[in-house]
Amino acid sequence: MLLARYFRPGQHVLDPFAGSGTTLVQALESGLDATGVDVAAFNCLLMEVKTRTYNPFILEQDLRSAHARIGETTGERPSAYVRRWYAPQAARELIGFRALVDDYEHADVLRVVLARAARSARRTTHFDLDFPRDPQLEPYWCHKHRRECRPVDTAAQFLRRYTLDTLARLKAFARVRARGCTASVIHGDVREVALGRFAGVLTSPPYPGLIDYHEQHRYAYELLALDDRRELEVGAAAAGTSRAALAAYSDGIVAALINAKESVARSAPFVIVVNDRRDLYPEILERAGLRLEQRLRRHVNRRTGRRAGEFFEDVLIAR
Ligand SMILES: C[S@@+](CC[C@H](N)C(=O)[O-])C[C@H]1O[C@@H](n2cnc3c(N)ncnc32)[C@H](O)[C@@H]1O
Repeated sequence: MLLARYFRPGQHVLDPFAGSGTTLVQALESGLDATGVDVAAFNCLLMEVKTRTYNPFILEQDLRSAHARIGETTGERPSAYVRRWYAPQAARELIGFRALVDDYEHADVLRVVLARAARSARRTTHFDLDFPRDPQLEPYWCHKHRRECRPVDTAAQFLRRYTLDTLARLKAFARVRARGCTASVIHGDVREVALGRFAGVLTSPPYPGLIDYHEQHRYAYELLALDDRRELEVGAAAAGTSRAALAAYSDGIVAALINAKESVARSAPFVIVVNDRRDLYPEILERAGLRLEQRLRRHVNRRTGRRAGEFFEDVLIAR
């Protein structure tokens, strides 16, 4: 694993584009402290929930109690987004669950459960859960299951499943994380947020034209009323891949790396995982004052989603 190769237990690693928190989770498993920065509020919520230490009794009590209340509804009228993307019963169940979240100490865990259920309960096809354009209202031929499938009309089954699954995952992680190690999450634009002191950086930065990270979890922003800062995303797909967009992307990554560089010692490692098909990184690193030491190519197998399949990514080691 990359962390073990470049860091020692007890050190503190920074991930400036931390996403859903893979680096943070692996750091905690490997005996490191970690700080993750992300501009997307939903990713920060996920990271917080995945890496916090819990009192297992209160966690279990909260989730079991919320589980027993799934199906409670309120008279609240759904927003236009919710009416468009959810069947009426699913909308009632999701909004009912949202109303009970704040009754619990571990409200954030329940918010993640709500988001996971909301993702599955959208009126989409099974094969396009990542970036559906329009709701799927009629039965359809499903490429994934090779039969006719119909859009879901209730959310309670997903709320139940993800309440128990999230509880199981948090308990499993509590068993494998190293004692005494902690993770911090900073919600902000990494080009300018204040950072602490770190032994080095491990990150997989966004890449131009690939993903809009806020849009990817639009349902969560809508249902949880999260702070939307999409205009601060570096390399957002919506910005395209014109020459100007690529230049803005490079400027953004350079600014982020310079900010990170100021928070580490001189020869600290920067481990950057990216499929740099446009060969932007040699120049980005140079502009950020980093020296590319090694470029490793590794093979990745993606398991889910439409973009499933094999591809390669580079691991760039710079200092
Ligand atoms: C490739 S993803 C990181 C994936 C991560 N390794 C994971 O396990 O989920 C890149 C992340 O950079 C974030 N990002 C984009 N612009 C940013 C900015 N200006 N400041 C901080 N984070 C930003 C996106 O929100 C996204 O979560």
